[in-house]
Order: sequence, then C-alpha cells, then structure tokens
Amino acid sequence: MDFKKDFPMLNEGIIYLDNCATTLKPNSVIDEVSDYYRRYSANAHRGDYDISRIVDDKLVEVREKVASFINASSSDEIIFTSGATESLNLTINGFFKEFLKPGDEVLTTKAEHASLILPWFSAVNKNGATINYIELEDDLSVSMENVKKAITKNTKVISLSHITNVIGDVRPIKEICEYAHKQGIIVLVDGAQSVPHEKIDVQDMDIDFLTFSAHKMLGPTGVGVLYGKSKYLNKVKPLELGGGMNAFFDSLGNVEYKELPEKLEAGTQNIAGILGFGKAIDYLEKLGIENVHKYEADLKKYMVDKLSNLKNVTIYNAKIENGIVTFNVEGVFAQDVAAYLNKKGICVRVGNHCAKILSEVLGVKNTCRASLYFYNTKEDVDKFVEALDNDNILYESL
Ligand code: ALA
Repeated sequence: MDFKKDFPMLNEGIIYLDNCATTLKPNSVIDEVSDYYRRYSANAHRGDYDISRIVDDKLVEVREKVASFINASSSDEIIFTSGATESLNLTINGFFKEFLKPGDEVLTTKAEHASLILPWFSAVNKNGATINYIELEDDLSVSMENVKKAITKNTKVISLSHITNVIGDVRPIKEICEYAHKQGIIVLVDGAQSVPHEKIDVQDMDIDFLTFSAHKMLGPTGVGVLYGKSKYLNKVKPLELGGGMNAFFDSLGNVEYKELPEKLEAGTQNIAGILGFGKAIDYLEKLGIENVHKYEADLKKYMVDKLSNLKNVTIYNAKIENGIVTFNVEGVFAQDVAAYLNKKGICVRVGNHCAKILSEVLGVKNTCRASLYFYNTKEDVDKFVEALDNDNILYESL
C-alpha cells in the first residue's frame, strides 16, 4: 500500500525510523485538528449553543471509540490525559501511593521507561513500600517463570510495559494478570509501545490499569489515555482539582466531585488533540490493527538479515519479533551514527531512550534505535542499510 497520499511527511524526502518516539500523522488527523480551530472552536461541557454541543458530542464519540478500540466494558473507564506519562503519574500517585502500606512490594523490571519507574520511586519513598525487579532472561525478555519467582507474599502490584521501548520484547501480560490476580496482586501495564501496534483487549487480558499515548499511534501530541477497571478507577484520587471535575463546593470548603470520567479530567482538555485522536483510531481500525505487528516484525526481519551482513554492526535484539532494531556501530559513538544518518535524511533515535536502568543489564550505555511502523517499506530499509554499509561513518558524521 502506498501511504504517501495519506501522510504528508512521507513526501518530505526523509526516511523516518523513529516511530517509538512518535509516529507521523495522516491528513485525516491533521484536518480534524484544524477543523476544530476553524469551524467549531468552543469549549466542551459549558456552552448552551450549537458549536459547543458539536464539541461535546464529538468528545463523547471519541471516548467511545477509544473504549471500543481496547474493548473496555464502558467508556467511563477511559480517562483522557496529556499522555502516558501523566496517566502513569495519576495512577501511581492518585491510587497506589495510598493503597500501598509499609513492607508492601512493587514488582517491575530494569527495562522500563522513566515515566513508569520514576513515579514509583517517588511513591514508595513516601510510604515505606519497596520496589523489586523481575529478573530478565538472557535476551532481556520477561518470562512467566521469572515473574513467579519474583512474587512474594508482600507483592501488591506488578507494573511493567507491555512492549519495551528499547528491546521491544512483548511481555506475557494475559498470563501475568491471570497469575497475579490469583494472589490478589493488581497489574498496571504501560501500553505506550503496544497499543499502537497490536490488538489489545483489556477484558480478555484482564488488565487492571492500562496507559498509552495518542501521538505514538498517529494522533496528536498532548493526549493520552488512562484505562482502569471501574472498581479501581473509582478509587483514584484526582491530582488536579478545578473546573469540570466538581459537582458542588461552598464557602465552607465542602466539595463534591463528579463521577468518572469527569472527576479525573479537571480543566479544559486538549479538545483539538482528542478529536484528532478519534480520526487516528478510525485510520487504524480501517487499516486493521491486527495486521500491524506482523508487517513490522517481517520488515524488521528483513532489516536484521541485511544488517547482519555488515561486520561493524552489533544488534541487541535481533531475535525479538517486533519493529524495533537496537544496534551500535563498532568504534562509533551512537550520537555520531545518528548525526551521520541524519545527513542522509534518515531519522533514528540514539541514547539511553529514557530507560536508564537497562544499561545495567544490556552492558552498554547508549544505543541507536530504528523503530518501524506500517508505512515504512523495504526501500526505507535498503537505504538505511546501504548508509550503514560504510567504513567512514565516524569521519562522515562530522
Ligand atoms: N518513549 C519514547 C521513546 O522511546 C519517547 O522514544
């Protein structure tokens, strides 16, 4: 399929291989955002006039689309946030901080993104709980065996990403939830790198909390989702207080909050972004989200096969079935590789990718990461590998 007519950025003469960071946006998303500002740029929940009602109706529609996309049982279980980072902070600080007691344990891994790890560091510092790490396998993936080994009688939460942003391994979330629930453990899953790439069914997987961002799945920046089972979401304390989330307050300080989802959405939401997100979901639904992962995994295999012929390239996750290739070029700093590729119009991310603890197990501090999406092609891969097939990368990066 030629996506060039749908994605203006695909006509900008670059090869975009940084889709874990953010994805390109189709015209339908861009137009929806622009339509809001051009044609009915009113606030929601407040106006008794036509264009405000249009906004209200559209927001309801997008919330329902999101619920259906991940098969939530109700759209009230969908909270709009500014991104996965806010969703994680809200869940950990608004729920778990009070839920956890001294001596309780949180299980996670050393491969997690800062936005999952740092709120936990802060939360457990406050209440005397501790963080333990599930041991990673040699290929840095998470096995059920190691999850079971790490659980103790004090484990109260398992918190991990579904797909990691550096290695790209897929965690056995359904099995983890099933096993955890039998011991009364709650599971918080960061789906920032999985919801854009494969079908997620929160009911089938029995996930308690799920977080993700719109901009990693064709949508605008500044929009994210917190999904929670209503029995837990109802207990999340709002961290932001203000308009739109209260039902009543008086001069004595008596306050009543609204029900979900409004309770957790104080202030004016990123309306344009949420409406654009609705179009992103439409696009993925039409494309068939269940086809995305397989396409990317095949394209990755094609990339890995070609890169394996280059003697100066080390790949850290060759066998992991996904659209992420994490590598280094021998004798060249990752940053210099990126600068060199940039000169050829190729966009990759380098560094620690916000997963700073991973270097303790990976053995290197910085890596280069090429991350694919469904609009990348074999031609993109050919040009990328051709660029790396060069003994003078360091010299030419300057
Ligand atoms: N989490 C994003 C990434 O991995 C920003 O690139």
